[in-house]
Amino acid sequence: MPDSLAGRDIITIDDLNKDEIQLILNQAARFEELRQRRRKFDLLDGRVLATLFYEPSTRTRLSFETAMHRLGGDVISVAEAAKSSSAAKGETLTDAARVISGYADVIVQRHPAVGSAQEAAAGATVPLINAGDGMGEHPTQALLDLYTIQRERGRLDGLWVGLVGDLKHGRTVHSLSRALAHWDVRLTLVSPPALALPATVTGELRRRGLTVHETDDLTTAMSACDVLYVTRIQRERFADPAEYKRLRKSYVVDQALIKHTNPNITIMHPLPRVNEIATDVDDLPGAAYFRQAANGVWVRMAVLTLVVG
Ligand code: NCD
Repeated sequence: MPDSLAGRDIITIDDLNKDEIQLILNQAARFEELRQRRRKFDLLDGRVLATLFYEPSTRTRLSFETAMHRLGGDVISVAEAAKSSSAAKGETLTDAARVISGYADVIVQRHPAVGSAQEAAAGATVPLINAGDGMGEHPTQALLDLYTIQRERGRLDGLWVGLVGDLKHGRTVHSLSRALAHWDVRLTLVSPPALALPATVTGELRRRGLTVHETDDLTTAMSACDVLYVTRIQRERFADPAEYKRLRKSYVVDQALIKHTNPNITIMHPLPRVNEIATDVDDLPGAAYFRQAANGVWVRMAVLTLVVG
């Protein structure tokens, strides 16, 4: 196995080039193929993963931990780290990561502040993987999103992808849109103007050669797109609760809308959903979000194997 990723931090999706992303996706596919024959490996026997979560998580933490268990490694974990770790006593992220590097071979951290992963990585002497730094990035989510698109549609090149919802605060779309810039895709950004993808990101995508359309019209966008990636309005990022209330029901995708606009569309969502995808979508063949969540295990197995080496 190539070792170019061994020992590396993954703070932003731009820490990985296209070949490295492809390597991770291929390795993830191998783990998925082997799932029936081999549920447990010994590739990371004797290695320890530390998960350090200062913000709520279900999928990201549990899929990283499942991945490590399946690789034969061990897991140490702090959920509610803001309350239950020494952060409550004023320890910096940098110091905490340095200390945890003495116990673990890789650290996965989520924290509400942009830049927190970088801050921890400065202290860590083992690879640090950003599992979400506030409204910054969530690079391993982007990897599993790419994996899912490829799995559902058979390719990435030539697709038209719509991102809808809270594109301002949503870290998953910040990472995914950058990742998609490596492929020949068209991107339509659907949001209320107040929740648009930051202009710095849009500008960067265009500079990298991506065709980007911006609109607030979901119906038209859905008719054109192969894949619609729906996101939650990120309540916890709003300074003004009234603003959240005004925007929270901006878009709802339901079965009637899909049938009317584009019955073949693939619907994705990083989850958790609140009200932006009606439950009557769940049984449609194109509803990929639960498969997407499950894919997190294969992708994180690949990431851990390559990074821990
Ligand atoms: C996302 C996150 O935490 O950014 N969840 C996830 O990791 N699957 C999306 C969200 O919280 O809306």
